[in-house]
Amino acid sequence: MKVLAFLGSPRVDGNTELLLNEAVRAARERGHEVKIHKLNYMRIAPCQDCGGCDKTGTCIINDDMVEIYRDIREAERIILASPIFFFGMSAQAKAMVDRCQSFWCEKYLLKKTIPEGPHGRKGLLMLVGGMKREIGIRCGDATAKAFFRTVSVPTHEVLAILEVDAKGAVLEHPTAMKDAYEAGKQLVQT
Ligand SMILES: Cc1cc2nc3c(=O)[nH]c(=O)nc-3n(C[C@H](O)[C@H](O)[C@H](O)COP(=O)(O)O)c2cc1C
Repeated sequence: MKVLAFLGSPRVDGNTELLLNEAVRAARERGHEVKIHKLNYMRIAPCQDCGGCDKTGTCIINDDMVEIYRDIREAERIILASPIFFFGMSAQAKAMVDRCQSFWCEKYLLKKTIPEGPHGRKGLLMLVGGMKREIGIRCGDATAKAFFRTVSVPTHEVLAILEVDAKGAVLEHPTAMKDAYEAGKQLVQT
């Protein structure tokens, strides 16, 4: 099946990327096609709330979201991986999520959902935070839930790793890498 992954961290080989790569490895080892969008390197303008998508469900901004819109439609599994920044997902991830307002119009105003394939559509949210406090997970998951439901993904799992701050520190975490691999494996299970 087609798996689409979003990397919301700007830190190359950072904790989010290391975790995401483990989940992706699990999916690829099982023969699934995985495409990763590294959001920090993409041209994604913030939503302008221009109303351009209200009647059509199509965003009028011409940037890298055009490719992302197509990929979201085709995906059967979607992974959203982000560090926790100021108690929420990163700006890179949030900009992409906000631009899915056109899917919101399509689903809730035009009453059209993205058709699901034979294996349905499922999501996985991966969050990494440096602090102990769980509020970042709750806020990040609230936004992710709105994102997943908007793009017709009815259920998603959450893997959140806290108290991991320095670049690569996730490798020292007792279970994180194993948990990420397992989450990727579960995601593609039918
Ligand atoms: C701008 C910024 C804001 C942050 N805010 C939080 C926060 O609110 N809660 C938290 O747990 N960690 C916070 N952190 C720490 C990061 O989540 C942590 O370092 C994480 O491991 C970064 O992941 P990465 O290596 O994939 O970029 C923040 C880091 C930065 C740079």
